[in-house]
Amino acid sequence: MVTASPTLHDAIDEILPGLVADRRHLHEHPELGMQEVETAKFVAARLAQLGVEDIRTGVANTGVTGLIRGTGSGPGGAKVLLVRADMDALPIEEENDVEYRSQTPGIMHACGHDGHTAMLLATARLLTGRRDEFAGTVKLVFQPSEEMPPGGARPMIDAGVLEDPRVDAALGLHLAQEQPLGTIAAAAGPTMAAADMFFMTIKGKGGHGAMPHTTVDPIVAGAQIVSALQTIVSRERDPLTPAVVTVGAFLAGSAPNVIPDTATLRGTVRSFSADERQRLADRIRELSSGIATAMGAEVELDYVFGYPATSSAAEMVEIVNAAATEVVGAENVLVKVPTMGGEDMSYFLNEVPGAFFHVGSRNPERGLVWGHHHPKFDIDEAALGIGVEVMVASVLRYFATA
Ligand code: NI
Repeated sequence: MVTASPTLHDAIDEILPGLVADRRHLHEHPELGMQEVETAKFVAARLAQLGVEDIRTGVANTGVTGLIRGTGSGPGGAKVLLVRADMDALPIEEENDVEYRSQTPGIMHACGHDGHTAMLLATARLLTGRRDEFAGTVKLVFQPSEEMPPGGARPMIDAGVLEDPRVDAALGLHLAQEQPLGTIAAAAGPTMAAADMFFMTIKGKGGHGAMPHTTVDPIVAGAQIVSALQTIVSRERDPLTPAVVTVGAFLAGSAPNVIPDTATLRGTVRSFSADERQRLADRIRELSSGIATAMGAEVELDYVFGYPATSSAAEMVEIVNAAATEVVGAENVLVKVPTMGGEDMSYFLNEVPGAFFHVGSRNPERGLVWGHHHPKFDIDEAALGIGVEVMVASVLRYFATA
């Protein structure tokens, strides 16, 4: 039985300075989704140094993959475990005054993906040094463009990343600024929502604001539609099954005395299952076109399905929780409370059983409290070592028990 021995913990302490340096290098040089050219070069060079096999670059634009083949013996010998990190930054101007501040104006690693990339490199470093401690193959996946739907995971799957060799299971993590440093959180089932969008045009007939009887007012129809959409969640669904319908934009007209021809609504819709997701889309279509028709207007609806819900498999969560218990203690292994945020790790988890776990990085004592996507976002870097230790221990445990 392979476990996270004190040796692994000592090894983390040893590599932590390098891990922090990598994260800071990436933080200083952020790149937006599908443009992670320098990041991918950095990653590929590191993997080559480590002796990672079968390094492939340019996978779905800027993605990088590599293999680490274990030489140990054990039940997981034929298994392939995918471990994924996302690499992209956000179009945000950094407001932190730190020595590793972003050097690219208007772009910042404000979600922690710099940390994820550095952590997967450190995971590779530890696993290449421990090939004799596991049987099986680790497939490292550095993914582009998590922040920008349609994302980088789906194109990587389309490019064949789950084949050659065929992947049996997947692990991924996210730094979590809402979670205290030293905690790990995971849960079986969906923990992050499906994130869909709609773009609606209500077509009426414009005219003089003083002669409404000669027009079809798209603003009034739009207002009715906005109100009616609120009843989908509040009146039609089980209150114990969460969902969100938000109209985030209502654009129409410009003059006080003119009824415009059209009004535009844009919204986001979040849910946790494929069925619910489809039902919400159907109801938004039915309600909006029904109301528009009743008022003499027409609706054009562009409904965009984004990332599906992120759902972990119970047996993989068990592996992560057992590993996390060794690293941070049972009292710091939390049950992940679902959030309405979206994540394209979901595409991997829809194809193979896997787990996505959250690594606490919040430290109020050091003022590290700003949330993801905030211009002052910054993590407690001690979280990097904890996350790597849990990830390596989970990988070893997977192959020992697979
Ligand atoms: Ni993120």
